[in-house]
Amino acid sequence: MSTPFAAILMGSDSDLPIMQTTMEVLRQLEVPFEARITSAHRTPDATHAYVKEADARGCAVFICAAGLAAHLAGAVAGLTLKPVIGIPLDAGPLQGMDSLFSTVMMPGGIPVATVAVGKPGAKNAGYLAAQIMALGDPGLAARVRADREANAAAVRAKDAELQQKLAG
Ligand code: RP5
Repeated sequence: MSTPFAAILMGSDSDLPIMQTTMEVLRQLEVPFEARITSAHRTPDATHAYVKEADARGCAVFICAAGLAAHLAGAVAGLTLKPVIGIPLDAGPLQGMDSLFSTVMMPGGIPVATVAVGKPGAKNAGYLAAQIMALGDPGLAARVRADREANAAAVRAKDAELQQKLAG
């Protein structure tokens, strides 16, 4: 059996800087991934073909990011039974409200797990994909747990520092 991987799809190369955030999280947690620039509107046939073949090759989770009329995540969700995470991006004058509604308001039966607009969403998409894949991978589950504990320890350290400053 092939190693399960996450597939990141983004609608444009203009999405790439923010999508580096997702890739960083996946690299840190040692989650294998592929990343493609492919659009629901500009390259519908290529998007369709990639999703079908990635699905067949063992893609475990699709992560789809797009701005403006962001139909990429929804279009992908219609092509696969694997979980689809949608990241709405701020790419225009409506500051991500357009892509948020386009991504989140899916009709019943075709879910897209939509995360926050922009960078926090891109980060959480990486964590959510890892948590989904960790359901069948105890090693990954341990790395996710260790990361969560490290984050909590960092917050506690910052609080201790603040308390020291306030006391001094
Ligand atoms: C969407 O349109 C892309 O995901 C991108 O966020 C937005 C703008 O694309 P470009 O015009 O910058 O290529 O499809």
